[in-house]
Amino acid sequence: MVRVLFVCLGNICRSPTAEGVFRNLVEREGLSDSIQVDSAGTHAYHVGEAPDGRAQAEAKRRGLDISALRSRQARSQDFQTYDYVLAMDRSNHDNLMNICPLGSEDRLSMFLDFAPEVGRREVPDPYYDGGFNRVYDMIEQAASGLLSDIREKHM
Ligand code: 4NP
Repeated sequence: MVRVLFVCLGNICRSPTAEGVFRNLVEREGLSDSIQVDSAGTHAYHVGEAPDGRAQAEAKRRGLDISALRSRQARSQDFQTYDYVLAMDRSNHDNLMNICPLGSEDRLSMFLDFAPEVGRREVPDPYYDGGFNRVYDMIEQAASGLLSDIREKHM
């Protein structure tokens, strides 16, 4: 089993979208028995909440229902459980590095590093400025690159 955790700040916009997009891809590829997917936030502001209405609407527009997901906070133990811990931006990466047990740093990556064609390393935070459509496109591209990496290294 390969385990993947997507992480942003609040776990209500970017990382639940990534969780939904990647899980859908894994299902379509028939790999649900081999790849487990979750998401979390570095902060606890929105713990227990469903994804932001704008993230839900964008997902729905693309045919994906992410309404049942609930926000939780990332914890040190996640680095024992998850093979891939994927940060949406540098600030998430810094916060994750602060709770990462010594020796587990190689599990942590910037999610967009799996999509060099996007030409940037950070998924912009859409909470205040919007841009859910563009965020969704970036996430789809990186999800595909991530699956290729998993196939190459673990299958
Ligand atoms: P996310 O977006 O990290 O993509 O879930 C945000 C959600 C909430 C806040 C900031 C970003 N907030 O400040 O409450």
